[in-house]
Amino acid sequence: MQLFRTKSLEAIQSDVGGDDDTGGGDVGHLRKRLTARHLIGFGIGVVIGTGIFTLTGIQARDTAGPAVVISFAIAGVVALLAALCYSELASSVPTAGSAYSYAYATAGELLAWVIGWDLFLEFAFGAAVVARGWSAYIGNLLDLPPSLFGEDATVNVGAAFIVVVLTVVAVLGIKESARVTNVLVVVKVAICVFVVVAGIWFVKGANLTPFVPAGEPSEGASGLTRPLISVIAGLEPATFGIGGVLTAAAVVFFAYTGFEAVANLSEETRKPSRDIPLGLLGTLGVATALYIGVAFVVVGMVKYTDIDAGAPIADAFDQVGLGWASSLISIAAVAGLTSVILVDLVTVSRIGFAMGRDGLLPQSIAKVSPRTGTPVRMTLLYAALVLVTATFVPLESLANLVSIGTLFAFVLVSLAVPVLRRTRPDLPRAFKVPFSPVVPVLSALACLYLMLNLEVETWLRFLAWMALGLLVYAFYGHRHSRLGNADRAEAAARAD
Ligand code: ALA
Repeated sequence: MQLFRTKSLEAIQSDVGGDDDTGGGDVGHLRKRLTARHLIGFGIGVVIGTGIFTLTGIQARDTAGPAVVISFAIAGVVALLAALCYSELASSVPTAGSAYSYAYATAGELLAWVIGWDLFLEFAFGAAVVARGWSAYIGNLLDLPPSLFGEDATVNVGAAFIVVVLTVVAVLGIKESARVTNVLVVVKVAICVFVVVAGIWFVKGANLTPFVPAGEPSEGASGLTRPLISVIAGLEPATFGIGGVLTAAAVVFFAYTGFEAVANLSEETRKPSRDIPLGLLGTLGVATALYIGVAFVVVGMVKYTDIDAGAPIADAFDQVGLGWASSLISIAAVAGLTSVILVDLVTVSRIGFAMGRDGLLPQSIAKVSPRTGTPVRMTLLYAALVLVTATFVPLESLANLVSIGTLFAFVLVSLAVPVLRRTRPDLPRAFKVPFSPVVPVLSALACLYLMLNLEVETWLRFLAWMALGLLVYAFYGHRHSRLGNADRAEAAARAD
C-alpha cells in the first residue's frame, strides 16, 4: 500500500510556500518572479524548435506529402486537449513538479515517480536532440567541418559546446534565463512569420496536388521499425495516404513537446492561477498557428518529393532563388534552437528539485542555492546527462523517445483531472476543463493513439528507461521518501 501513498494537496501547497522568497521545506523555496508574459516567452522558447525546422521536411517527403499540414493540425489538437488538462491542474496545484506533483496527489507515490522519471526523459533527452540540431545548423551556417558538427560526428563538439554555455545561463538564475529566452523567442517568431508572409507568394497549386498522396507499402519497415499499431492490427505498414498522415502526426508531435514546461514554473509565478493557463494555452495557440502556416508554405513552395531533409525551410527559399532569405532563416533557426535547449535545462532541474524535496532523490542534490535562487546542483547533474547524450547519441532515436515519453505523461495528466474532481471537489479551480470527464478522457485516448503510431523500437527503449527508473525507486526513492519516513515515524510512535 505504501506504493500508493498520496501526498496531500495541503502538503504540496505548504511546500510551495507563500508569496515571499523565503523559508520553508528542507530544500528551500524557488523565487516567485515570473508573469504571464515571461511564461509565454518560456513556452514558445521551448516549443518551437527542431520539430518545425527539421521534421517538417522529412515527414512531408517520406510519410505524409503536403498533408503534413494536417499532421501538424492533428498533433496540435491533441496537445491542446492535454494543455487544457494541465491548465486545470496547474491552476489548483501550483508547484514546480507539475505532472509529477499532480500524480503524487492523485494516484500515489509510485505513479508520481514513474511520471517524474518520464519527464526527465522528455526534457533531458529533448535538450540533447535539439543540441545536436543546433550543431548541424551552426555548422551549415559557418561552414564548419561536419565531422565535428554534423549528425555523423562521433564526438559532436558543437552540441557539447552549446550545452556547456547554456548550463552557465541556467545556473545564474531564472530571471536571467527568462531574459535571454525572450530575446531569442522574438527572433524565432519573427522568422516564422517572415517565412509565411514571404513564402506565400511562391506557393504553387501544382506542388499541393495531390494533397494526400495515395498510400503505398513502405519499404524496409519491418519488425522493430514498424509502428506498434500496424503490428497490433496486423496491417502492412504503409506510407502516405491517411495512415501516413497519422504516422506523421505522431512523429511531428515532437514539435509540440515542451509546452508543459510552463506548468513546471508555476511555483515561480506571481499569480499562478491566472497566468499558468494563459501561459500554456497562449504558447500552444501561437505554436499551432505558426506550424500550420510554415508547413503549408514549405510544401507549397517545393514539390514534396524535392524537399530537403536537413534544412527544409531554408532550402525552400534557396530553391525559389531567395538565397539571402535562406541565410536569414538559418540564423534564426540557430537562435530558436538555443532557447529550446535553455528552457529544457531549466525545466528538468525543477522537476528534480520537486522530487528531491519529497525525498525521492537525494535532498542534498535538490538544494536551492541562496545566492542564485536556483537548484544549482540539480541543474549541473542534468546538464552532465544532457552533455553526454548530446555529444555521443544520434538524434533520431532520441526524438521519438521524447515524443512517446511526453504522450505517456499526457495520458496520466489527463486522467488525473476527473480523478481529482471526484476526490477533491472542494479544491479552488481557477481554470476548469470544459465538459469533464469527456474532454480529459478524449485527451488521454488521443495521446494513447498517437503513442501506438510510434515504432516498436521506440516502445522497447521507453520500457527499458522506465524499468531503470523503477530500480532507482526501489533502491533509493522508496526508502528515503519524506512521506514514507513520516508514515514510519507514526507507526513507530503507535507501537511505543
Ligand atoms: N518541441 C521542441 C522542438 O520542436 C522540442 O524542438
